[in-house]
Amino acid sequence: LGLGSAAGFTALRPNPGSAVPSDDGSIRSAGAGGDLPGFGGEALPCHGAHQAGITTPSTAHARYVAYRLRPEVDADGVRRLFRILTEDIEGLASGAAPLADPEPELAARPSRLSVTVGVGAGLVDRVDPSRRPEWLKPLPAFAEDRLDDRYGDGDLLILLQADDPLPLAHAARMIHRDLTGFAEHHWTQQGFRQARGSEADGTTMRNLMGQVDGTVNPHPDEEDFDPLVWIGADGGWMSGGTALVLRRIRMELDTWDQIDRPGREITIGRTLDDGAPLTGGDEHTPIDFEATTPLGLKVIPMAAHARRAHSTDPDERIFRRAVNYDDGTEAGLLFACYQRDPYRQFVPIQQRLDEMDMLNEWVTHTGSAVFAMLPGFAAGETLGASLTG
Ligand code: HEM
Repeated sequence: LGLGSAAGFTALRPNPGSAVPSDDGSIRSAGAGGDLPGFGGEALPCHGAHQAGITTPSTAHARYVAYRLRPEVDADGVRRLFRILTEDIEGLASGAAPLADPEPELAARPSRLSVTVGVGAGLVDRVDPSRRPEWLKPLPAFAEDRLDDRYGDGDLLILLQADDPLPLAHAARMIHRDLTGFAEHHWTQQGFRQARGSEADGTTMRNLMGQVDGTVNPHPDEEDFDPLVWIGADGGWMSGGTALVLRRIRMELDTWDQIDRPGREITIGRTLDDGAPLTGGDEHTPIDFEATTPLGLKVIPMAAHARRAHSTDPDERIFRRAVNYDDGTEAGLLFACYQRDPYRQFVPIQQRLDEMDMLNEWVTHTGSAVFAMLPGFAAGETLGASLTG
């Protein structure tokens, strides 16, 4: 990183074949290579009531990058920072490349790149502490947590997602370069799902324990999705935004592998084969939590993860969007979930899991962060303008 000044490159122009994505939610061909075969030319619209990258289709790669604001950055600095980010996001997501991009070729095939921006309490406080949402603070400590500050909360979050790691890395570098005057890098967490094309689109992902992960999840097409996830008109400047909880969860795969298959399946309450409940049916058959064995025991054990995580209160649900991580020495899940209020949704679920969950034998939470994911923005508007005015 640290490209330094872009002086001398300002004469570079966007690719002639570039197209700005449409605002109707559709994916458009982008960049100079838009009519080439493959998915590289697909661009996700970055404009809308909500930021892209939260409910837009999950991509193969994700990178979370957190920053700390430099001490001298005030409300006006935050306003300038948001303006620069807006231009970068528009250029990078469309494949047109930001104006001063020295390597626009690396942006030309965005592969559904999205850049989603979240803010921490520290940033809101620079603008106006009275505007900080009540929930924007470190989560309460859980007994089983083994948190490492290296993956703790920050002032600013840049979440990059794409099906190709190349435009993603380029976008991260362009944004890093532009943020240098405003913020210092805090941490990066890189994750992945199955490669695009290895499975039919829409297939539920598998985590590194081999489980189908993400089956029971609110869907954006469902009527009750919006009130669970998007902050409403009463949320002031956060209206149209959402709260992200990101937990880095290490998996003990060596000891997990020593458990036989039935043992691994009852830990969750679902089969490893296709993720169907142990009470029968296919992946999307509802779990029968009441079913018993001939001996009168519950088929889904009382401490099974799916039972403990299940919410009987419909308002307590979260929208999960995890990715795997594997840095060569350690593997696990970058567990991300979106909601209106982490204290009403994530925290009570995690409290149950922390108290009792068979999965705890093999998973450890090592990082925790909460960010206010900014509302979306329309063409001609600036991201985060509702906060900075
Ligand atoms: C369900 C894995 C951590 C919340 C599941 C399922 C799997 C799974 C395989 C069943 C399939 C599905 O519905 O997605 C894991 C692993 C974790 C983890 C491997 C850690 C590495 C968490 C955490 C939370 C959570 C931290 C929230 C605090 C849920 C919920 C469900 C679920 C809400 C759906 C329960 C239902 O059936 O209603 N998880 N999970 N999980 N998990 Fe996790």
